[in-house]
Amino acid sequence: MIQQFDASFGKCFYLGNESVCCILGIHRGQVELLHFGAPLLPEDAEAMALPEGLGWGCSVIYKHADSSVCLDTSALAWSESGLGDYRETPLALSKDGQPVVPDFVFSSSRMLPEMPPYAFPMPHARGGAETLELVLTANSSLLTDNTTLSLYFSLYETALVRRTVLKNGSGSPLTVSKMMSVMMDLKGSFSMTSFHGNWSTEMHRHTVPVKRARTVNESVSGFSSNRTNPGFILSKAGVTEDAGEVYGFNLLWSGNHYASAQKSEQGLTRVMQGISPDHFAHTLEDGELFESPEAVLCWSGCGLNGLSSNMHRFVNKHIIPSYWQYRERPVLYNDWEGCMFSFNETKLLSLAKKAKKLGCELFVLDDGWFGERNSDTAGLGDYTVNREKLPGGLEGLSRRIHALGLDFGLWFEPEAVNPDSDLYRAHPDWALHTPGIGDMLSRNELLLDLTKPEVRDYIVSSVSAILDRADIQYVKWDMNRHSAALGEKAYAYILGLYEVLDRIFSARPHILLEGCASGGNRFDLGMLCYAPQIWASDDTDPIERLDIQNGLSYLYPVSTIGAHISVSPNMQTLRATPLSTRANAAFFGCFGIEMDLGHLLPVEEQELKESVEYYIAHRNTFQFGSFRRNQTEDGAVCWQVTGKDETIAALFHRLIHAGPGYEWLYVSGLDSKAVYSMQSRKQALRVGQFGALVKHITPIELNPNGMVLHTADKYYRMHDATEETVCSGAALQAGIPLAPRFTGTGYREDIRVQGDFLSNVYLITKESKAQDDPV
Ligand code: GLA
Repeated sequence: MIQQFDASFGKCFYLGNESVCCILGIHRGQVELLHFGAPLLPEDAEAMALPEGLGWGCSVIYKHADSSVCLDTSALAWSESGLGDYRETPLALSKDGQPVVPDFVFSSSRMLPEMPPYAFPMPHARGGAETLELVLTANSSLLTDNTTLSLYFSLYETALVRRTVLKNGSGSPLTVSKMMSVMMDLKGSFSMTSFHGNWSTEMHRHTVPVKRARTVNESVSGFSSNRTNPGFILSKAGVTEDAGEVYGFNLLWSGNHYASAQKSEQGLTRVMQGISPDHFAHTLEDGELFESPEAVLCWSGCGLNGLSSNMHRFVNKHIIPSYWQYRERPVLYNDWEGCMFSFNETKLLSLAKKAKKLGCELFVLDDGWFGERNSDTAGLGDYTVNREKLPGGLEGLSRRIHALGLDFGLWFEPEAVNPDSDLYRAHPDWALHTPGIGDMLSRNELLLDLTKPEVRDYIVSSVSAILDRADIQYVKWDMNRHSAALGEKAYAYILGLYEVLDRIFSARPHILLEGCASGGNRFDLGMLCYAPQIWASDDTDPIERLDIQNGLSYLYPVSTIGAHISVSPNMQTLRATPLSTRANAAFFGCFGIEMDLGHLLPVEEQELKESVEYYIAHRNTFQFGSFRRNQTEDGAVCWQVTGKDETIAALFHRLIHAGPGYEWLYVSGLDSKAVYSMQSRKQALRVGQFGALVKHITPIELNPNGMVLHTADKYYRMHDATEETVCSGAALQAGIPLAPRFTGTGYREDIRVQGDFLSNVYLITKESKAQDDPV
C-alpha cells in the first residue's frame, strides 16, 4: 500500500506491506527518510521523525531552513554536496567543467501503477508494482527548474525497488560523473557482508563493521565481476542465520558498480548503491534523461535466512524472464570439462547416448565447434561451423541429438574476438582497445566494442542465424575477460550488451539462456533478467562449491545457480571427492553433469543414474523450494530446501578428525507440532576407497593392489548407513542425533562411513497434521 498524508512537519509518504516499509517525509523541500525496514503503520510517521536542532559549531545551515537545521545531521533519502551535507552524496554534476549544485527541492509527486519503461533496453523488475514518483526541481541559478530529479519507489511483496532519473532542462549540456540508484540514512550501526573472489573463487563471504571510515563495495573491471558482487548485506549486532535485523541490497546492473556505507557522528548509517563513478563522465544534452539502474532493497527481522527468502522470492517472481519463471530447468550434460577442444561428431554422439542413458535431458556442446577454434588462441568471432569436427554441421548434429531424445544447446562467446580470427583480420577496429596503449590480451582475446552499432548488428545476426538454422533449446553465453573500457565507455558497453541480448532473446523466449563469464564473473540481477540461470564458477570441486554456492545463496535463489557433477580428482583443485558429495552439492543448483562419460565404471554409471533420478524426483523442491542455511557442528555445512510437500536437508563435511563425537541434524522452519518422517538418501561407497583396510572385512585376505579387489571396485558397491526417524517438527528444529560416524572400529552398515568430504541428503515429509495443543 502506498499512501500520502500530511504530518505536523509536512507531507508524508507511506509505502508498506507485510514484509517491508518505507516512510518518507518532505521537510524544507528535502526528502527525509523517517523509516525503512520493519513493517509499521502510517500513523507511526510522526513518532519516527528525528528531533531537530543538531546543527552546531561550524555546521552549515541549509538555505531553506531556520537557523538550527543543517543537512549534515538529517536522515535523508537523497542528498547533494555543496548544501552543508559533508557525508558522501549520491550525485555529482558539472557544467562547462565547473561543479554544479542543483539544490533539488521537492515539487510534486505521483502514484503510478508501475515504474515507467526505460527509454532503451535495460533490465528491470517485472510484473509491475505500485510506484511512488517524487519529482524534485533544481533551485540553482546555473540550471532552470526544468532540470529535474525523479526518485522512484516501487513496492513489491518482499522488496522495495528504487530508480533515479535526472532530466537536463538547463539549455546546455550537463556532465554526470556520479548518480546513484539509491541513498538512505538508516538508523544505528551495522556490519557489511559482501562477496568477493576471483576466477574460480567467486562469492566468498566477508563481513566488516561499518565505522566512520567509508566501507566500499565496488567493481571497476567493466563488469559486475567475480572480485566483488554488487549484492551486499547490512546487519545489526548479533544477527544470526535465524534472528536479528538485516538489510539486503542488490543492483540490476552488470557493469561497474559502487556501494558504500558510513556511520555518521550522529548515529546514522548512510548507504548508497549505483553505477561506479570511477572515471565516469556522461554528457547529458539539453532535454535528455539519465536513468539509473534499479536497486533492490529487502529487509528481514528474522536473520539472514529471512533476508535470503525475501530476495529469492523477489528474484524468482520479478527478475527471471517470464517464460522461465518457476519453469523447471532441464538436467544437462555439458562436454567442456570432458572434451575441451578435442572432439568430433562421433565422440559427441557417443557422449550424448551415455548422457541420455544416465537420465540427462539436454546435451550442451561447449567451446570449440566453430572456425579454427582448436585451443583458446584462435577462432573467437568466426561463427562458421568447423566441418572437420562436425561434417554434418550443427543442423546434422542437432538432428541426431534430438533423435536420441535430448534437447540441444550451444556455447557462444559473442562479445569477444581472438586477434587470430577472420573477424579481427577483417575488422581490427571492432575490438575494444585501450586508447594510447593498444591491446592487452586476456585468455588470448579482446572484447568487441559493443558501443558500435555495426558490432551489435554483427553479433545479433550471426548468433540469430545459427539459432534459427539448427534446432537449439539452450544457449550458454560466455564472456571470458575483464574489460579494457573505463567509466563511460564501460557503461555504454553494458547498454550495448543489453540491447544485443534483448534483440536475440526477446524473440526466442523459449531458449534457456545460461549466463557465464569465466564462471561467475557476471553473476548479477541484470544478467538474470535475460538469463534465468548463470554458471556459478569454473570451480566444480564440491567442497569449494560449499563456499561459492553458499555465498550466492544469500542473495540468489537455487534456480539461478548452475552446478554440475564433474570428475574426481577435480580439474581445478586436484581434490578427490566421493561421487555422492559431487551430486549432493550439484543438487542445490541447476543440476548437470560435466565430465567424460567414456570411461565410467559400472558402479559410477549406476550412481550417476541414481543421482539424476533423485534430482528429477525432487527437482521442483531443489530449484524453487524455500532455501535455508542451518546450524551445524565442526565447520560442516547444512543447506535445506522446503517445497510444497517435502523438505530436503543436506549435510556436508570438510576434513574429518579421528574419534568424531555426536552429530545432529538441524532442520528449520517446519511446523513444530506436525509429525515428520526423515529418510537419508541411500548412498554407495566404493570398495576401492578402503585400500588395504578392506582385508578387515573380507573373509579371506586379499591383495589391496590385486585383480580381485580392482574388479570388485568396478562392479561391487558397498552402502553407507541409511537413517530413518519419525519425529515432530520441533524435534527436527531442536536437532536430531545422526548415526555414529566411522571411528576406526571397522565397517558396519549402521554407522556413517564418513571420511573427508562425505555428505548426505535427508528427505523429510509430513506424516500427519499438527497435533492439538497439549492441555
Ligand atoms: C569459460 C567457461 C567454461 C567453458 C570455457 C570454454 O572458462 O567458464 O565453462 O565454457 O570458457 O572455453
